[in-house]
Amino acid sequence: MSTKIPVGVLGATGAVGQKFIKLLQGHPWFEVAEVAASERTSGRLYGEAVSWKQTTPIPEKVRSLEIRPCTPDLECRIAFSGLDSAVAGPIEEDFARAGYIVLSNSKNHRMDEDVPLVIPEVNPDHLGLIPIQRRNRKAAGYIVTNANCTTMFLAMALGPIHKAFTVEKVFMVSMQAVSGAGYPGVASLDILGNVIPYIAGEEEKVEIETRKILGTFNGKSIDLAAFPVSAQCNRVAVEDGHTESVSIKCASKTTAAEIAELLERYAGAPQQLKLPSAPERPFIVMKESDRPQPRFDVNRSKGMATLVGRIRPCSILDFKFTLMGHNTVRGAAGASILNAELLKAQGYLE
Ligand SMILES: NC(=O)c1ccc[n+]([C@@H]2O[C@H](COP(=O)([O-])OP(=O)(O)OC[C@H]3O[C@@H](n4cnc5c(N)ncnc54)[C@H](OP(=O)(O)O)[C@@H]3O)[C@@H](O)[C@H]2O)c1
Repeated sequence: MSTKIPVGVLGATGAVGQKFIKLLQGHPWFEVAEVAASERTSGRLYGEAVSWKQTTPIPEKVRSLEIRPCTPDLECRIAFSGLDSAVAGPIEEDFARAGYIVLSNSKNHRMDEDVPLVIPEVNPDHLGLIPIQRRNRKAAGYIVTNANCTTMFLAMALGPIHKAFTVEKVFMVSMQAVSGAGYPGVASLDILGNVIPYIAGEEEKVEIETRKILGTFNGKSIDLAAFPVSAQCNRVAVEDGHTESVSIKCASKTTAAEIAELLERYAGAPQQLKLPSAPERPFIVMKESDRPQPRFDVNRSKGMATLVGRIRPCSILDFKFTLMGHNTVRGAAGASILNAELLKAQGYLE
């Protein structure tokens, strides 16, 4: 019998759900025991109902699982959620109330006062909200969220910079991959040869989530980071990988070389704890003047690192640079899995 921890995937048929199934294959601690989705697919075998879009085959064990409805009677204690945000809110609450540990990718609970929004390299201490959430909601389980896929790379890079040099202003323009819109996502006739300068709700999410992640846990709640973030988000004809052009102002004097060295040498909790999904280094600082590029760099460190390039002075704020990362791996399923690994390492799964 397997000694691994059985986990369920809610929204297992979607873009993020499929990435969970792929990334959990052969995981040393977790094993997919349940898959759940909507009325459209539940009751059918996963291998028959899913429109599989990954480059590796469906894992044999998962292929023959029956898709269950998203009701809290699954045989697992951990539920990874890749649910459509139109339905994720109440379903995730039901699971937490019933005692499940829910790791959510959806926007619904990220900004709830008692829900941790965690990047393990940046704010692992925000898990301190868990007992408060359980008390507030009289729930046996709890919800932990990960950042929106664009917020992820921005907040990850700003984490060490803010700690060292106190960020005062942030300006960010994104070029976001089509896979960020799920499947089938943006119609090909809308995006081919095109740039769409609007992604509903995205700029607001980046502007507020970044401040929560870089905020301070005061023992009861999170005090948002004081700096303003201005985000402009665009959808571009790239398959995977969100690119971000960032400018920042810092309170302390520094140099581009110092920022590069800080990021290059940085190691957070996942690296110190040697979590199975942690990238060896959270940041890959690229020296070439035309990198990072999604086509060539998106799968570096199995999609779990943030790629940084072109760190240089900015004539309006202090510094500017380019970030890029895999939106469905580090920006979604991979981030949830790393959060679950952190929970286990810190004793929150007991
Ligand atoms: N794509 C990304 O890069 C990305 C990154 C970060 C976060 N997210 C977030 O992650 C979530 C999932 O995104 P996605 O791109 O994977 O979406 P998606 O491809 O549209 O998948 C949505 C999933 O939700 C299920 N679902 C829909 N209605 C349901 C219902 N009434 N009851 C139960 N299950 C239902 C679907 O099941 P059926 O197949 O049965 O309909 C499917 O499994 C969203 O909240 C999104 O904002 C996405």
